[in-house]
Amino acid sequence: MAFELPALPYPSTALAPHISEETLRFHHGKHHAAYINNLNKLIANTPDAGKTLDDLVRTAEGAIYNNAAQAWNHTFYWQCLAPQDRRGQPEGDLLAAINRDFKSVDGLREAFLAAAAGLFGSGWTWLIQGTDGRLSVENMGNAGNPLTTGRTPLLVCDVWEHAYYIDYRNVRPDYLNGFWTLINWPFVAANLSAGTS
Ligand code: FE2
Repeated sequence: MAFELPALPYPSTALAPHISEETLRFHHGKHHAAYINNLNKLIANTPDAGKTLDDLVRTAEGAIYNNAAQAWNHTFYWQCLAPQDRRGQPEGDLLAAINRDFKSVDGLREAFLAAAAGLFGSGWTWLIQGTDGRLSVENMGNAGNPLTTGRTPLLVCDVWEHAYYIDYRNVRPDYLNGFWTLINWPFVAANLSAGTS
């Protein structure tokens, strides 16, 4: 069965003004859709056609990996963001883990945004829970994904230029500051729980 483009989990106007409706329409409707269409073409009538997207991210290589991981990463990225009334705050176990590993939420913000600003070229900045339970911030180029190393993704920022060029042109730091205000903290907390259990 072919993969389908998942609907955005909110209206395309929900992240404005930090991420505009025009950006969401292109990023989701063109870029994300293209990765899924390419993946479906690559796996049609092959043994990979029966696999889940998670399986393909963990095991595929080359073009199939690149398109599967880009499909996965974008779905995860949309979920990492939320309309204002669903953004919440870090609390409970998530807040305790952030304070343990980054001193404070501000410490995490500083580490995450500095990493994202410094990523050379196209890629993703992740907050990851390692197999030892500790949190870390890591840049991964192109279609990188922490599942390939058995770790748990908690939060991601798309640092490909197509994520911000319409709204911010080349000023990536302004996109990153806006991104930080849109984070869906209950989603990040749920990922932490899943990785801990
Ligand atoms: Fe993207």
